[in-house]
Amino acid sequence: MQLKIALLAGDGIGPEVIEQAVKVSNAVAKKYSHNIEWIPALTGASAINAVGHPYPKETHEICLKSDAVLFGAIGDPKFDNDPLAKIRPEQGLLEMRKKLGLFANVRPTFTFPSLLDKSPLKKERIEGTDLIFLRELTGGIYFGDRGRKDNGNTAYDTCTYTRDEIKRLAIMGFELAMKRSKKLCCVDKANVLESSRLWRETVQGIEKNYPEVDVSYEFVDAVAMRLVQWPNSYDVLITENLFGDILTDEASVISGSMGLMPSASVGSKNALYEPIHGSFPEAAGLGIANPLATILSAAMMFEMSFNMRKEGKEIRNAVNYSLREGKVTQDLIEKGNKSLSTSEVGDFLVELIK
Ligand code: IPM
Ligand code: MN
Repeated sequence: MQLKIALLAGDGIGPEVIEQAVKVSNAVAKKYSHNIEWIPALTGASAINAVGHPYPKETHEICLKSDAVLFGAIGDPKFDNDPLAKIRPEQGLLEMRKKLGLFANVRPTFTFPSLLDKSPLKKERIEGTDLIFLRELTGGIYFGDRGRKDNGNTAYDTCTYTRDEIKRLAIMGFELAMKRSKKLCCVDKANVLESSRLWRETVQGIEKNYPEVDVSYEFVDAVAMRLVQWPNSYDVLITENLFGDILTDEASVISGSMGLMPSASVGSKNALYEPIHGSFPEAAGLGIANPLATILSAAMMFEMSFNMRKEGKEIRNAVNYSLREGKVTQDLIEKGNKSLSTSEVGDFLVELIK
């Protein structure tokens, strides 16, 4: 099959980890007789530096014309430390999500048997954890009305949701739950927020159509606690944009490293795959970044966008093998043991797949 993939490397360690995902994807494609055409495009701080915008029009057009988008990371401390910066790399990411209609962010959290000791959480708590967050991605406080008043001395951000926005995400959650253990948790703050009450009301309405699914409604603060206490008790969780942002970073601790967790952002037409970690600017160019989250994102791409299960599995098996054998970057290595560089991990996986 001929595949056309937009390649948005972005900033910081983005280009290095993306390079490994490309190598690994090409190796899998070759083995299964596919041909991938990669179309690089600018995004993030590097796009601001080059053309003055974090998500240029050309990039958007390339994404629209591609079968999928593979994304590295964006962000640059230069902008974080300047509260007055008019244009920020993150705006590019938000604009891209909105314009491509990527309303659902699929963020799995799972453990690797060989890494159970890597997590700061006790092994017996996290063993067997396999949960998926569906984070709403194009609404809520990220996109609500915001501004300043009183001569700049008061600031506000508003959280708005429509019933339809909640509905499409919730239906995706129920469908996913039906394919898994038929357990769904709706995460909200309905004891305080009106938008959360609409979430709950909407999900309750859909619940009737899925009598087999066991639905729980939990407040976000309680979920934040239970997630690290009993991660095993969750399967599919649906939630709004900001709660999902925070909880998925928290959940990544369960797996032992942020450098491991992939994600997919999907809409009705387009889909984008990216690691959940950021641009890690301190590590850029040092060859120490862990490429596995991006490589596992490529696996999700094969599975979800192209329905190529064997190809995805091939990547997952290779990653599991490298973890078992300790062929990994320094973040996953005990002190004193030898680690591989970012590109050596990529090369190791390519050899395995061949
Ligand atoms: C993420 C990131 C982004 C978000 C930032 C970079 C805007 O943290 O993808 O989780 O908050 O959505
Ligand atoms: Mn985040």
